[in-house]
Amino acid sequence: MTEQKPVTESTAQKVPALPDAQTVTEVKHYTDRLFSFKCTRPASLRFRSGEFVMIGLMGGPDPKTGKQKPLLRAYSIASPSWDEEMEFYSIKVQDGPLTSKLQHIQPGDEVILRPKPVGTLVHDALIPGKRIWFFATGTGFAPFASLLREPQTYQDYDEVIITHTCREAGELTYGRDLIEALKDDELLNEVIGEDFWKKIKYYPTTTREESAKMGRITDLIRSGEAYADLDVEPLNPESDRAMICGNLAFNLELKEMLEEAGLEEGANSKPAQYVVEKAFLD
Ligand code: A2P
Repeated sequence: MTEQKPVTESTAQKVPALPDAQTVTEVKHYTDRLFSFKCTRPASLRFRSGEFVMIGLMGGPDPKTGKQKPLLRAYSIASPSWDEEMEFYSIKVQDGPLTSKLQHIQPGDEVILRPKPVGTLVHDALIPGKRIWFFATGTGFAPFASLLREPQTYQDYDEVIITHTCREAGELTYGRDLIEALKDDELLNEVIGEDFWKKIKYYPTTTREESAKMGRITDLIRSGEAYADLDVEPLNPESDRAMICGNLAFNLELKEMLEEAGLEEGANSKPAQYVVEKAFLD
């Protein structure tokens, strides 16, 4: 005979404390400004590599009403569409409403993840081309962490160029580690073939600390130095496609450069030659 206990608060089935709660499974800190984390994936969530969702935590009680409201921000999904877990790459802002708290999460904690993916950094928003450029600054690398692990990227293009401009060398670590690990990516090796990684050209640069390559990517392209280093022809609308994700000034400057080179901005509803999205800022 099994003992029958009354259903009390402690024996009742555990319900998630937060709406749309997901459990944190891993947290990695890279610098005092950057960290990444993984969490469980909502069973019903389907997304396209490169999209973003709203992520957050429950905010503190309102001083007047005592009610708590979720504190949410848009975060690019850094994991590819086929992955069982979700990965995110975030800045830490010490007085930022969300990231000042989010940076302290630990495995086992809960985060809010609204399962409504959207975004323009998707293959569907581009028309076919030969070469794709992923232009990132800082945490703008996140959607490309997803797209670099997405088989379609290598099915659609002969060459994949990823540029990443950061202030300091330590801010390149997340991207560099991810690109190094790609060589051993089982799915990509199986679906695309073991030479797939030869399509990738990685171009990391720093602006405020010494590294192998210094300078803003915009300046390096304008001077022609980036083309020479990468051994590629200048951007042209026939062969090149591009996705931009970084801070606002960078996005605007690069957008203007692409337009000057003759590329047109695309969208989900009207695919064209490049797309742009703002990286998460506070
Ligand atoms: P810089 O150090 O010269 O400002 P942030 O951390 O402020 O978002 O910047 C990330 C990187 O983006 C930095 O290396 C920064 O260079 C660079 N950056 C900022 N604005 C632009 C721009 N308009 N064009 C190219 N790179 C930029």
